[in-house]
Amino acid sequence: MSVGLDIGTKTIKMVELVKQGAGFSLRASGIVGHKGKTPDQSKDEKELVILTEAIRKLHKDAKISSKEVIIALPETQVYTRTIKFPLLTDAEVASAVKWEAEQYIPIPANEAIIQHQIVERREDTTPPQVVVLLVAAPKALVEKYARAVEMSGMNLTTIETELMALVRSLAPMDQSSMIVDFGARSSDIAIAKNGTLVFSRSIPTAGEAFTRAVSQFLGVDETQAEEYKRTYGLSATQLEGKVKQALDPVFRVVSDEMKKAIHFYQSEEKGDSPTSAILAGGTAGMPEAASTLTKLLGIEVIVGNPFSKVSVDPQAVTQLAGYAPLYSIAVGLAMRE
Ligand SMILES: Nc1ncnc2c1ncn2[C@@H]1O[C@H](COP(=O)(O)OP(=O)(O)OP(=O)(O)O)[C@@H](O)[C@H]1O
Ligand SMILES: [Mg+2]
Repeated sequence: MSVGLDIGTKTIKMVELVKQGAGFSLRASGIVGHKGKTPDQSKDEKELVILTEAIRKLHKDAKISSKEVIIALPETQVYTRTIKFPLLTDAEVASAVKWEAEQYIPIPANEAIIQHQIVERREDTTPPQVVVLLVAAPKALVEKYARAVEMSGMNLTTIETELMALVRSLAPMDQSSMIVDFGARSSDIAIAKNGTLVFSRSIPTAGEAFTRAVSQFLGVDETQAEEYKRTYGLSATQLEGKVKQALDPVFRVVSDEMKKAIHFYQSEEKGDSPTSAILAGGTAGMPEAASTLTKLLGIEVIVGNPFSKVSVDPQAVTQLAGYAPLYSIAVGLAMRE
């Protein structure tokens, strides 16, 4: 049994999976909105209470049985770099990362928790290379998340990053693809090659910015703006296209960043290009978001189904339907072995 806990700015999601042969089946899941601060936003433990009480309640209401959880650090707070070494052995890579990590991250190595994974060994390039993904997070941040889990009455088993989890639940295993988490506070962009994360980037433009844009452009309060955004989204025909007009410039910021990521990856990888983009997170549900991105990027853009690699009984599928994209990170975390 393994539980993924995704602590978002607006919502908390929890998923419990059971290992079944080579795959997984869904045991329990739940989602709840919260008005608290996330661990990275809070200055002291008092500020964590609203959040941790909400997590406790969700654990109970969703009937999650295990208390051992895996969590993800927000992409905005971690540093992910792809680095290339000459063809070293695994042990040599580990030692090179240890000694050289500081060059690649903007914080002192003794204040960071650093992990790495080998993406691929390329024997056909000159010179041959080993490509390594380096992930670093401030120790203080990790401690805050660990404390939040403890205050929620649970035990932390593993920490990774949001995009690592997303890639696990959504990325196809046999091609290069782009995976985007459209949350409330940030849009996080990953490129995965054959199911492995190779590029990541986070920008602070997402659901909250969209709501603000609608509110300012139409002169309505945030609640009304939120409703307009969810109901009309980027549709040109609804409300005389006014909501779309408000959203367009902000949406461009995100689509331009996706374009840049594709170009960067193409130039780095000399020709290899993501064949599709898969969307996750609440904002992925915005009307016409996926179809607009398809037009702007010229690749197929779809809303991901994080349960595609998990067996789910038919009744649960209907219940999950509208919310599925929200669960992508929690599912990916629970799939971690
Ligand atoms: N149907 C919809 N159309 C447009 N936006 C939506 C829709 N449903 C939810 N959202 C937006 O999705 C956001 C919440 O999504 P999600 O739960 O993925 O965010 P989060 O994980 O809490 O935030 P973050 O990951 O940025 O910390 C909110 O900004 C909300 O307005
Ligand atoms: Mg999120």
